[in-house]
Amino acid sequence: MEELKTQLASNLKNDFVDKYQRVINYLRLSVTDRCNLRCIYCMPEEGLKFEPRNKILTYEEMLRVVTLCAWHGIRKVRLTGGEPLVRKGIVPFIEKLCHIDGLQEITLTTNGVLLKDLARPLRKCGLHRINVSMDTLRPEKFYRITRRNYFDQVWKGIEEAQSAGFDPIKINVVSMRGINDDEILDFARLTFKETFQIRFIEMMPLGETNVLSAAMFLSIGEILNMIRGLGVIRSIESNPLDGPAQRYAIDGAKGEIGLIGALSHSFCKKCNRLRLTADGHLRGCLFSDQETDIKTPIRQGKSNEFLLEQITNTVSNKPKNHGQNIYSLRRSVRPMNSIGG
Ligand code: 5AD
Ligand code: SF4
Repeated sequence: MEELKTQLASNLKNDFVDKYQRVINYLRLSVTDRCNLRCIYCMPEEGLKFEPRNKILTYEEMLRVVTLCAWHGIRKVRLTGGEPLVRKGIVPFIEKLCHIDGLQEITLTTNGVLLKDLARPLRKCGLHRINVSMDTLRPEKFYRITRRNYFDQVWKGIEEAQSAGFDPIKINVVSMRGINDDEILDFARLTFKETFQIRFIEMMPLGETNVLSAAMFLSIGEILNMIRGLGVIRSIESNPLDGPAQRYAIDGAKGEIGLIGALSHSFCKKCNRLRLTADGHLRGCLFSDQETDIKTPIRQGKSNEFLLEQITNTVSNKPKNHGQNIYSLRRSVRPMNSIGG
């Protein structure tokens, strides 16, 4: 690693810029495709054929790719899955990630199932922030959405994360008509009591499931209208490393609302993301099948220069947009659990 640092030191200030002048400074790193839930918008009930372990990048391999990315302009890394906390050794891995020069923010998206015991170690190892996926405030509905009975465990995980000092915690709510649209206001009201940022996410037509339908699609415009009933709403400016959420606060609230309109408000023009899948493929876009295999050259012993070129090529070939603004199921892309949301 020392050698890598000196070799690339001159590059630290370089930004990754793609063909459309977008600065790419945010890497989403999927550390595993496995998961302990089976959310209806992500996987079929019986699960998926998960990758055998030798096809998944080792932590050392991931650290090498992230180091190369950081020396070339990546400033923020988000760990995703599957469920990142199911992978053994995740805490020491995050600790190492936190020591990579150039990175300013390491964050984690988790379903919260294993958070209760891991919140404190995660806080200690240097992780900056967490997002917890939680689509309902009702245990029976939690089972209907995730096909597992972990509602209480997830809430305990969130509480433990708060007391470990993660603040604000972002709560991801995939919003679905006929499933949890009756809870939008309950979620929004939580921001009066807690510093949470409640993020309503439009359901994306990914994943292999026959449960989803276009009729379940709920737009962030509809959600914003529902929330207006709760009080005066002001919008909040985003920071440069922020994701695509439109931020709002209801007057008198401690927390915030985030609206993520992946489909209705395409944010491709401002997209700053690169993705690395658990099995070692770099992707410029969640919706595109274009990807670069980085694992094979790593395992063939290729040089850092070669790998950097692969990374730079993926960035410059990042698609202009995902070409999808209405809800229609697309089954050709990889399932969500292997790309990391
Ligand atoms: N549509 C919208 N969000 C999804 N996620 C997973 N699958 C989908 C989908 N089809 C979300 C999870 C998590 C984040 C990583 O992606 O709920 O919050
Ligand atoms: Fe697991 Fe996340 Fe997929 Fe749900 S959406 S099954 S928590 S990977």
